[in-house]
Amino acid sequence: MRIIEVSDYKQMSVKAAQHVIGKIMKSDCLTLGLATGGTPTGLYGELIEDHHVNGTSYKCVNSINLDEYIGLSKEDPNSYFQYMCSNLFSHIDIALENTHIPSGMATDLQKECDRYEKLIEETGGIDLQILGIGENGHIGFNEPGTSFQSGTHLVELTESTREANARYFSSIDEVPRQAITMGISTIMKSREILLLVSGKSKQDAMKKLLENEVTESFPASILRNHPNVTIIADKDALTMVQHLHR
Ligand code: GLP
Repeated sequence: MRIIEVSDYKQMSVKAAQHVIGKIMKSDCLTLGLATGGTPTGLYGELIEDHHVNGTSYKCVNSINLDEYIGLSKEDPNSYFQYMCSNLFSHIDIALENTHIPSGMATDLQKECDRYEKLIEETGGIDLQILGIGENGHIGFNEPGTSFQSGTHLVELTESTREANARYFSSIDEVPRQAITMGISTIMKSREILLLVSGKSKQDAMKKLLENEVTESFPASILRNHPNVTIIADKDALTMVQHLHR
């Protein structure tokens, strides 16, 4: 794992954007794996600005999102579909038909998981997966205890994840209890992974990720076994890490 330490959230977002834009420029047809949450919004903002200023085009980019809540329609302001539209898709020239997010409203949820996993394979796999990390080490919505062999699947969200995400909803009761997420094995098949980490609330997770063993009780630890991971983390997130070569 390569670790890039930056001063703050803004620098993390700028560095991440440079990395993503570099890949888009070098590739004829890039498949980007996208994440939601507070962490990547700065990155998306930088991509939008670059699109307006430098004209970087997304006409040949496919996107595949990590996850979606169960029970929220595409129109729901808290759905990850709406998040992606308002934070990125509506402001760049990506074709909406080339963007993919699991459907949280599918009548047969297992079928939707299978469809999504197959879709990822059929698009040729993910070239660059953007990831954030939950305070408990979750990636996507793969909560502690998720099998490292898991493909796209249905999950019960932990209370700590529901509480962490309640800030986007009017009350915690409105936070869905289930989601569809790419599995750990799905994420690990990505050819490259870019993990973004910012803030003191993630310092414990960063310490566990960099210093503890690989274990299903801390899902992100599997990234240590991936051949091409870059972590861009700010100083606050790295506060507790002992042996970083600074
Ligand atoms: C959410 C998302 C993850 C995200 C994580 C951290 O539950 N499903 O993809 O990485 O939590 O969120 P944040 O970036 O807001 O800290």
